[in-house]
Amino acid sequence: MLKRSKIVDLLQSSGPKETVLVKGWVKTRRDSKDFSFVEINDGSCLKNIQVIALNTLVNYEDVKKLSTGSSVAIEGALVESQGGNQKYEIQAQNVEIYSFAPDDFPLQKKKMTDEYLRSIAHLRPRTNKYGAAFRIRSELSYAIHKFFHDKGFNYVHTPIITGSDCEGAGEMFQVTTLDLQNLPKTKDGSIDYTQDFFGKPAHLTVSGQLNGEMYACALGDIYTFGPTFRAENSNTPRHAAEFWMIEPEMAFADIYDDMDVAEDMVRSCVKHIIDNCQEDLELFEKFVDPTLKTTLENIVHNEFARVTYTQAIELMQKSGKKFEYKPEYGIDLQTEHERFLAEEYFKKPVIVYNYPKEIKAFYMRLNDDEKTVAAMDVLVPRIGELIGGSQREERYDVLTKRIEELGMNIKDYDWYLDSRKFGTVPHAGFGLGFERMMMLVTGISNIRDVLPFPRTPKSVNF
Ligand code: 4AD
Ligand code: MG
Repeated sequence: MLKRSKIVDLLQSSGPKETVLVKGWVKTRRDSKDFSFVEINDGSCLKNIQVIALNTLVNYEDVKKLSTGSSVAIEGALVESQGGNQKYEIQAQNVEIYSFAPDDFPLQKKKMTDEYLRSIAHLRPRTNKYGAAFRIRSELSYAIHKFFHDKGFNYVHTPIITGSDCEGAGEMFQVTTLDLQNLPKTKDGSIDYTQDFFGKPAHLTVSGQLNGEMYACALGDIYTFGPTFRAENSNTPRHAAEFWMIEPEMAFADIYDDMDVAEDMVRSCVKHIIDNCQEDLELFEKFVDPTLKTTLENIVHNEFARVTYTQAIELMQKSGKKFEYKPEYGIDLQTEHERFLAEEYFKKPVIVYNYPKEIKAFYMRLNDDEKTVAAMDVLVPRIGELIGGSQREERYDVLTKRIEELGMNIKDYDWYLDSRKFGTVPHAGFGLGFERMMMLVTGISNIRDVLPFPRTPKSVNF
């Protein structure tokens, strides 16, 4: 039996072929006197294949009813095309119709806004733009796995349900099987979690880092790549409630090693996309961001800038630029600051490091000045923060003191502290927001358009 060929392979065929079988969806159809041109797409690439269906086909009357979105299987000869648009086309010998798409198929040939397409997120992958975006998304995950695999990192699966708050920001979704209409109470009136599924409160993870550290302190170099959940009520184009994060963690590494790996990873993944997704990237260059190629080439060919937090604040103050939120030592950098640094000042990605300890997480290593921690963020043009990371506090006493200072429950971190008790070593790591990287390589400006089915405040459809 004839096996199905993918359009991507047929269009690169080394010569004509007597019989091929393609399966896909009709993009357009137009009729001539004795035949019909049908454009088919199967998702294997941006391009369609043109099919010539002659009126001698037994079901030609049905072929003439094929409308956009209908599904078909076509057997025919792959021949060199006379028209200038494509190298090959198919002369159909047999057209099997799986299903007609009625006229109310929403993806007709007209301009549709991103907002509208979000409301039909289950159908939008069949458009050129979203097809391209999600092929790039797949290739980008491969590039990330390849980068770490080639460097000898082990891929670790950290839990999705967790009993600890890694970032200490309290932006977690609770996981429970308790009956919310009828909560069990203890004598003092609080909720009796001993009756809950895990016997204590549980949440969806905001980061796999703490677990990842345990594996780095055993296997050396590890990374995670998994879904991450944040109940931040921020409705921005850069935040999703469910997103994917890549978190490498390296034993025997300091903050400078951490920056080197982050920079190397971003540059090699961008290069991988330039080298492997040319056709899809061209679509984004043409319709989404005309400066995309220059931006990406710029990332690949230039070293990232590096400045301390203190220097970054000073250069913003001296810049004379009016910020909505005034840059002063001690503030958390806002998106406007991040974008100014990357887009306007350095005009390329910049790594800002050594932040005041007050604005960073408990696990970051205290610097000798006792005021700053060895944290680093990678900021990129258009997006702002792409990566957040740090050298970890490996000194048992310093870490315990910090946990207590912050009023966190030390008992919850017993296991974490064990790694500092038994053979502790300097180590460092970072988290890369996968969707932000997707926005970087495609030029897409809203995170909702790089997630297959985005989850954001008040929105959990499909
Ligand atoms: O800076 P964050 O909060 O760092 C951590 O979670 C550390 N535990 C990482 C580590 O050191 N292993 O998050 C890391 C990155 C951010 O830089 C951002 O790119 C992305 O995750 N991110 C989000 N992406 C989409 N939607 C959100 N709500 C995000 N929150 C963070
Ligand atoms: Mg951060």
